[in-house]
Order: sequence, then structure tokens, then C-alpha cells
Amino acid sequence: MTVTQIDLFAEIAELKRKRNAILLAHYYQDPDIQDVADCLGDSLALAQQAAATDAKVIVFAGVHFMAETAKLVNPSKTVLLPDLKAGCSLADSCPASGLAALKAQHPGHAVVSYINCSAEVKAISDLICTSSNAVKMINSIPRDQGIIFAPDKNLGRWLEQQTGRDMILWQGSCIVHETFSERKLIALKAEHPGAIVLAHPECEAPVLAHAEVIGSTQALLNHVIKHPTGKYIVATEAGILHQMAKAAPQATLIPAPPEGACACNECPYMRLNTLEKLYLCLRDMKPEITLDPGLIARARLPLDRMLALS
Ligand code: 13P
Ligand code: SF4
Repeated sequence: MTVTQIDLFAEIAELKRKRNAILLAHYYQDPDIQDVADCLGDSLALAQQAAATDAKVIVFAGVHFMAETAKLVNPSKTVLLPDLKAGCSLADSCPASGLAALKAQHPGHAVVSYINCSAEVKAISDLICTSSNAVKMINSIPRDQGIIFAPDKNLGRWLEQQTGRDMILWQGSCIVHETFSERKLIALKAEHPGAIVLAHPECEAPVLAHAEVIGSTQALLNHVIKHPTGKYIVATEAGILHQMAKAAPQATLIPAPPEGACACNECPYMRLNTLEKLYLCLRDMKPEITLDPGLIARARLPLDRMLALS
């Protein structure tokens, strides 16, 4: 029997039960994966779920840094990621050696890293944040202390505006959120008077300048749930549209247009996970995330600080 001939939904449900596994999925996953998940959420909610679960196995339908985070906050669990190549352009932009060199140039600065980074980068950070809690995390740093913020320059710039802090920004970016075109967004707003632009803070400043609501995927979804008959132009990864449409069937949802004629508002890393790979990973109990215990001890400190402050 080949993988495509079996009922993947039923097999995944049965394997989850047999393995005592919980399936955590990010909003940017393929809709089929969202529909089989036990917990669906943004980066913060998923890290909190990973820390709290009693299940023996965590299957992470997301990208590598998210599965690594699950391992860091719950090291005794087996953590599986359906495709180990599911990376992230932000995490890749920031090698730990580069951040360590920047840190050495600015003694006394606090290093605040967006959760979209490797365990090695977390290990040399003082505090982690997600897009849900970033303003709160920056505000928790004493005002007279300098801050290095890594790796997302767009989120960093937006945080500077929100908090009134000057920070040293690592120059990383998300290939998906940088794809949206300001020119096309202006045209689309003119075509749809009254449409509200919902944007993720990883978008570039010219796109954020046209947004009425800026926030994490969860915050954007919450806005649609609160105003379910609105018309929205959505500037974030297209996977979130599935939950928005389910929660607010009467809402008009228009994906913000990328500059090129491409599907670049779908994250190519997130989309490496498929239902088939999810099934195989639960069947074979691999690929598994493994981390050196010393690295876990160092990298979980700034994460635990974030979870305590959240
Ligand atoms: P949030 O899950 O915090 O909204 O971040 C989105 C993202 O880009 C995850 O990779
Ligand atoms: Fe990374 Fe952007 Fe994909 Fe999120 S959407 S995983 S930030 S590349």
C-alpha cells in the first residue's frame, strides 16, 4: 500500500493516539495540516503549548527553529519535525558567531532575539521575544541599557517606533513578508474602499505605513474574529487565511499582493511539511530534533525569561 492510497487523516489520528503524541501546527501550515492539528497557534502560543504538554511526543508542523524551541522548553520529550529542511530566512541570516562578534563590540547591551533564530543564537541572547510579546519584552529592559535586536530589521524598526528605543538592529529579514508590494497595495486599497489592511510586523516599513492593524498572526486573526463582517487586505503568509475564513465566513479576505506574479506569500520552508511527511514522521518516529544538553541549558534561559514575562 503506498502512502497516497491510505486515509492519511485517519492514519495520523491513530498514530497520534498510539504514540501519545501532540501535533502542534503554526498558522502558516497547509490547511490540511491545520485541520489535523491538536493545537494551532502563533509562535508564542505554540512555545507555551510545547512547555505545558504531558504528551510523550511533540510533532511540530512548523519550521526548524520552532521545533528546536519545543525541545528547549521540554527537553525530556521526543520532538519530531516532518521535514528537517524546513528552515527560515530570518534564522539563516544570523549565525551565532556573527551575533557574538556584534555583542563583543557593544559590552553592556542586552541582546534581545526574535524567536526566529537558532538554539545557538538563543544561547547568547539575554531575552527572546515573539511578535505577540515583543513590545512587552523590549519594555522590560531598563531604559538606560542599550539593546541589540536580532535578527529581523523590519520588526526591529517597528519596535523602535512602538517603544521609543534606539536599538542596534541585525539586518535580517523574512523572504515572505518582504515580498509585498507597496505600489500594488495602494492600488488595491483604492479598488476596495473601506478595506482594512492587516499586516505582520515582519513586513517592510512602507507596507506597514498603510496598515490599520499590525500584529502577530494571532493578533490579526483575533481582529477578524472580533469584526467578522469586515473587508480585509491581509499582509502576511497566506496560510492564516484558512483560519480567518473558518472563523469569519462572512468576512472578505484579500491577500496582499506580492511584487512579482508569484505565490511568494506562501513560505517555502513552512510548505515543505505535507500530510504525507507528517504521517511518515509519526510512523517512523523521525526526523527527530536532538540538541546538546549544554546548549539546551544555555538556550532555554532567555526563553524561560520570556515565558515568565509573557
Ligand atoms: P508569529 O507566529 O509570531 O505571528 O510569527 C510569524 C512567523 O513568521 C513565524 O515564522
Ligand atoms: Fe521564516 Fe518568514 Fe517563513 Fe516565518 S514566514 S518561517 S519568518 S521565512
